[in-house]
Amino acid sequence: MPSGLRMGLTSYGDAGFSLFLRKAFIKAAGYSDDALDRPIIGITDTASDFNPCHGNAPQLIEAIRRGVMLAGGLPMNFPTISIHESFSHPTSMYLRNLMAMDTEEMVRAQPMDAVVLVGGCDKTLPAQIMGAASAGIPAIVVPVGPMVVGHHRGEVLGACTDCRRMWGQHRAGKIDEAEIEVISGRLAPSVGTCMVMGTASTMACMIEAMGLSLPMSAAIPAPHAERLRCGEASGKAAVAMAQNHMPAPTSLITPASLRNAMVVLQAIGGSTNGLVHLAAIAGRVGIRLDLAEFDRIGREVPVLVDLKPSGDHYMEHLHHAGGVPRLLRELAPYLDLTAPTVTGATLQDYADAAEDVPGQTVIRPRSAPLKSTGGTAVLFGNLAPGGAVIKHAAATPALLQHTGRAVVFTSIEDMTTRIDDPALDVTADDVLVLLNGGPKGAPGMPEAGYLPIPKKLAQAGVKDMVRISDARMSGTAFGTIVLHITPESAIGGPLGRVRNGDMIRLDVEARRIDLLISDEELAARTPVTSRAAPRRGYAKLFHDTVTQADQGCDFDFLIGQPEDEY
Ligand code: FES
Repeated sequence: MPSGLRMGLTSYGDAGFSLFLRKAFIKAAGYSDDALDRPIIGITDTASDFNPCHGNAPQLIEAIRRGVMLAGGLPMNFPTISIHESFSHPTSMYLRNLMAMDTEEMVRAQPMDAVVLVGGCDKTLPAQIMGAASAGIPAIVVPVGPMVVGHHRGEVLGACTDCRRMWGQHRAGKIDEAEIEVISGRLAPSVGTCMVMGTASTMACMIEAMGLSLPMSAAIPAPHAERLRCGEASGKAAVAMAQNHMPAPTSLITPASLRNAMVVLQAIGGSTNGLVHLAAIAGRVGIRLDLAEFDRIGREVPVLVDLKPSGDHYMEHLHHAGGVPRLLRELAPYLDLTAPTVTGATLQDYADAAEDVPGQTVIRPRSAPLKSTGGTAVLFGNLAPGGAVIKHAAATPALLQHTGRAVVFTSIEDMTTRIDDPALDVTADDVLVLLNGGPKGAPGMPEAGYLPIPKKLAQAGVKDMVRISDARMSGTAFGTIVLHITPESAIGGPLGRVRNGDMIRLDVEARRIDLLISDEELAARTPVTSRAAPRRGYAKLFHDTVTQADQGCDFDFLIGQPEDEY
């Protein structure tokens, strides 16, 4: 089996010449034959001026390179697409599959014996794992790590749960223009990913629980020295993986590890986006994620991690409490701890090495959970025959069983235009319905499912309402919000048949979301669909091939089959 520089030679019809030419060019960068004979460790460089979450990537990559060289390997950085939530139009999810394709093809095209995936901001880690799983060489994840917390007038703040809370207070007239400007400088006080249990933290925790990264790698704050030591150790581990030619992601992404990830997702009160990304990762190795199983896990596994938005703390507190290894130990009865990891050890080894921190209250014992059941429920019903989700851990308990009148917005633009109209016919008991926010409809399934409370109700003190859509919601958000309704309205799903004034019933205990009209009337209605299909470029590829939320919104031609060669 070719290794190092001999891997994936450029096709000139003469392998010897291809290697000769490759060496000639790389020597232009000053490498010696000794260096070029070492195992090559590729390192994805996702630093970008447009991605402040990855602001520590250069330093972290330097630490990874040190680890690679200490272990006798040759580190080779290479750039890939970088995606930041707030700098991605129309939405970061629209670009996730492009980043996955970029990562897969550059890992495959360039000679490397193993790859270190450096990422963190929401869509980046799932994209990188999807790509690496399809490329098939040994891969280890190094998250950039979470930000440290901010402070404002004696209050602890965190991106972006508190971004939404503060903005909500500003909309309600409780925070003026000058103060909201000050707050914008305090919500994200360092480089790193959002430090609540949003999508970035959720993915980092699930990835560690799947054995795809070193223990403790999810929660070490981005600015800490320990983050760099984690990078150095990951670089060393990557060399061992390269020398052993294993484990490839395909042998770590298994039914057991995916189930472990679902247990952790429930126990951390994680982002609903985590489920979509997990379905996409599973799809790359030919596994269809079972939403009903995820719901069953949620009925059994309690929320043990007390982090915002479901609880009170932030990622740095999870780190100081023992991190994911300590959580794994607490979750042991629900997990398959024989699952392997990048180090060759098992998940049991990660759990056994966990630190016991006296007096910590962030990782609760099973005997005193934050919530007695998991964070997210899967709903079905005549509005969501393919499923929908609700993060009930971050919802208003009194609204989890609710029947209300539909107030329908036919698109995100329609919602933006009318939501604050003083003439809008809406009360606090109504159900806000957003159509055409799904994978094809918006496009890219943006995080528009967190419909704002209409201004006149917000000013009257209304903090939550039932809101439903085929869109997603930021993992940092909270509220009684039904998301990912499948099939989406843009492809004729029943959601597109809801009309103003219809009655909608949400029953989370029964796991149902229903439109209270007859089957005949539902079938007879014409669905409201969205804009015309795009005719060129990535937009066309996306529209023509993106799958629904239950399949992870991957492109249909990228989903793996069990017999595929990776
Ligand atoms: Fe990057 Fe939140 S914006 S993780």
